[in-house]
Amino acid sequence: MKMLYTILFILLLIQSGNAQSITQVKAGDNALGTIPYDKFQKPGLCGSACHNDFYMQWQQTMMSQSYTHHWDEIEYFRLAVPHAEKDPVVAGVKAGCNGCHAPLSFLAGDVPPPAPDKMSRANEGVSCDLCHSVTGFEGDVPHNFNYIASPGEIKNGPRGTGNSPEHEVKKSDFLSTGDFCGTCHNEKDPYGIWVKSTHLEWKEGPYFKQGVKCQDCHMTYAPGLSAAMGNKYPDVRQHLFHGAHDPGKIKGTIELRVHPSSKEAEPGEKVVFTVALFNQKTGHKFPTGSVEDRIVWMHVEATDANGKVYHLKVDKKGFEGEEYTIAADVLAYQDMGIALNQPDFKGVQRDGVPVGDRIFRMPYLDPQGRMTIQQWNTKSLGVDYRLGPRETKLETFTFNIPDNAPPGELKVNAVLNYQRLVKPVADLLKVPADETEIVLVNEHSTSIKIVD
Ligand code: HEC
Ligand code: HEC
Ligand code: HEC
Ligand code: HEC
Repeated sequence: MKMLYTILFILLLIQSGNAQSITQVKAGDNALGTIPYDKFQKPGLCGSACHNDFYMQWQQTMMSQSYTHHWDEIEYFRLAVPHAEKDPVVAGVKAGCNGCHAPLSFLAGDVPPPAPDKMSRANEGVSCDLCHSVTGFEGDVPHNFNYIASPGEIKNGPRGTGNSPEHEVKKSDFLSTGDFCGTCHNEKDPYGIWVKSTHLEWKEGPYFKQGVKCQDCHMTYAPGLSAAMGNKYPDVRQHLFHGAHDPGKIKGTIELRVHPSSKEAEPGEKVVFTVALFNQKTGHKFPTGSVEDRIVWMHVEATDANGKVYHLKVDKKGFEGEEYTIAADVLAYQDMGIALNQPDFKGVQRDGVPVGDRIFRMPYLDPQGRMTIQQWNTKSLGVDYRLGPRETKLETFTFNIPDNAPPGELKVNAVLNYQRLVKPVADLLKVPADETEIVLVNEHSTSIKIVD
C-alpha cells in the first residue's frame, strides 16, 4: 500500500512538472527565441477570404509598418544598432526594439532581423496573429513587450462566438482592455526611465476613470461583419488604429481661443493676448508615445491695418525648465555622434521652428544632460509641458503697440502646429519628407482697434 502511494506521489510530481513546463510561457526579454516563425499565421491568410476588411484597414495602420516604415528602419539600423554595439548600457536594445516593432522576429530569436528590403517575416510587424494569440501579460504593469503570446489553433477575440473553418475562437476579455495595448505602448529604457507612457498617462487621466479605453477611440465600433461568412453585429471593432500619422486624428485635437485684454489701444500701449488651449480629443497627453521626436508649437502673429506682420513671442511664466518649451536657436541631440561615428558631433538645431514660439513637449535628456531623440539613451526627463487629456493651458502674449502703428484694425492669429519629427534631425538623417509634414492642429483669431 505504502509503495502504491509512493508511486502515485512520484507520478503526480512528474505530472505537475510537465504541466508547469507547458503553462510556463515566457514574456518580455525572456521570450527572445522561444517561438518559431511558423507558429504564427501570415496576415495575408487572415485577409484572403474571411477578414478582408480588417486586413485592408490594418494595412493602412502604422502597426503593419512597424518594422518597414522608413523612419523606423533609419533609427534602428543607423542609430540604435551601432549605439548598442558601442555602449554596454544600451546593448539590450539591439534585440529589444523588436519585441514591439518586429515581434515575430523577436520571439523567433532572429535579431537583428533582416533589413526590410529582404522581405522577411519581420516585415509583418504587429500582425493579426500576434495580437490574437496574446492571453495576458506578466507582472504588474504592462510595458516592454511583457505580453504573453501563445499562438496556435485558438484565436482570442472579444466574443468567442462564430464558427470558423480555419481556427477555434475563444473569448478573451484581456484583448478589450487598455492593459493589452500598454504591453507595447509603455516603455522603460535601460536607465529605468519611462520613455513611452501612453497607457500610464491614460490610466492617470479622466477617461480611464469613466471607463473609456484605447479601443473606444482607436478601434471604434460600427455595425457590420467581422468575418465574410459570419454573423452581423451592431458593434464590430474597426481596425483603424489611427494616430499621429493620420492628419484627421491630429486636427482639432486641441481647441484654441484667443482674446485681448482690451478691444481698443493707442500706439505705445501694451495689450495682452491670452490663448486658451483645450485638449478635447486625446485619452492621454498630447503629444504622447514617441515624445522625443514630436513637436507641437504655437505661433502667434499680429497684422496691422497696413498689412505689416509682427511675430509675438510667448510671455515667460518662470517655471523650472521653461527654456525647453520656448523655441530657441540652440544645438541639441549631440549623442547621435556615438552611432554616427562622429565623436565631436556638435549637434543640430534643437527645434527648427520660429524662435519665441511656445512648444508643448517633455524633453528627454541623455546621461550628459543634453536633449536627445534616442529614447533608449535617456537618463532623465525634463519638464512635462504637454497638454493632458481635457486639460486647458493659458498662454499670454504681450504686445507693445508700435508708436507708428496705423489706426484701424489689428488682427491677431494664433496657430497650433504639429510635426512628427523635429525637422533638423530629419534633415540630418535624410528621413523622407512626409515625417516632417506640418499638420495644422487648430487656429483662432481676434482683433482690436488701434485709435489715435
Ligand atoms: C506588440 C506590440 C503592440 C501592441 C500589443 C499594440 N501596439 Fe500599437 N503600436 C505598436 C508599434 C511598434 C507601433 C509603432 C508603429 C511605427 O510607427 O513604427 C504602434 C502604433 C500604434 C498607433 C499609431 C501611432 C502613430 O504614430 O500613428 C496606434 C494608434 C496604436 N498603435 C494603437 C494601439 C492600440 C489601441 C492597441 C491595443 C488595442 C495597440 N496599439 C497594441 C506596437 C503595439
Ligand atoms: C494591435 C493588435 C491587433 C491587430 C494587429 C489585429 N487585431 Fe483584431 N482585434 C484586436 C482587439 C484588441 C480586438 C477586440 C477589441 C475590443 O474588444 O474592443 C480585435 C477584434 C478582432 C475581431 C473580432 C471583431 C468583432 O467585433 O467581432 C476579429 C475577427 C479580428 N480582430 C481579426 C483581425 C485580423 C484579421 C487582423 C489582421 C488583418 C487583426 N485582427 C489585427 C487587436 C488586434
Ligand atoms: C478619448 C479618445 C482616446 C483614447 C481613450 C485614447 N486615445 Fe490615443 N489618440 C487619440 C487622439 C485624438 C490621438 C491623436 C493625437 C495624438 O497624437 O495624441 C491619439 C494618438 C495616439 C497615438 C499616436 C501618438 C504618436 O505620437 O504617435 C497612439 C500610439 C495612441 N493614441 C495610443 C493609445 C493607447 C494605447 C490608448 C490607451 C492606453 C489610447 N491611445 C487612448 C485619442 C484617444
Ligand atoms: C515597448 C515597446 C517598444 C519598444 C521596446 C520600442 N518601441 Fe519604438 N515605438 C513603439 C510604439 C508603440 C511606437 C508608436 C507609438 C507612438 O509614437 O505613440 C513606437 C514608435 C517608434 C518610432 C516612431 C515611428 C514614427 O514613424 O513616428 C521609431 C522611429 C521607433 N519607435 C524606433 C524604435 C527603436 C529604434 C527602438 C529600440 C531602441 C524602439 N523603437 C523600441 C513601441 C516600442
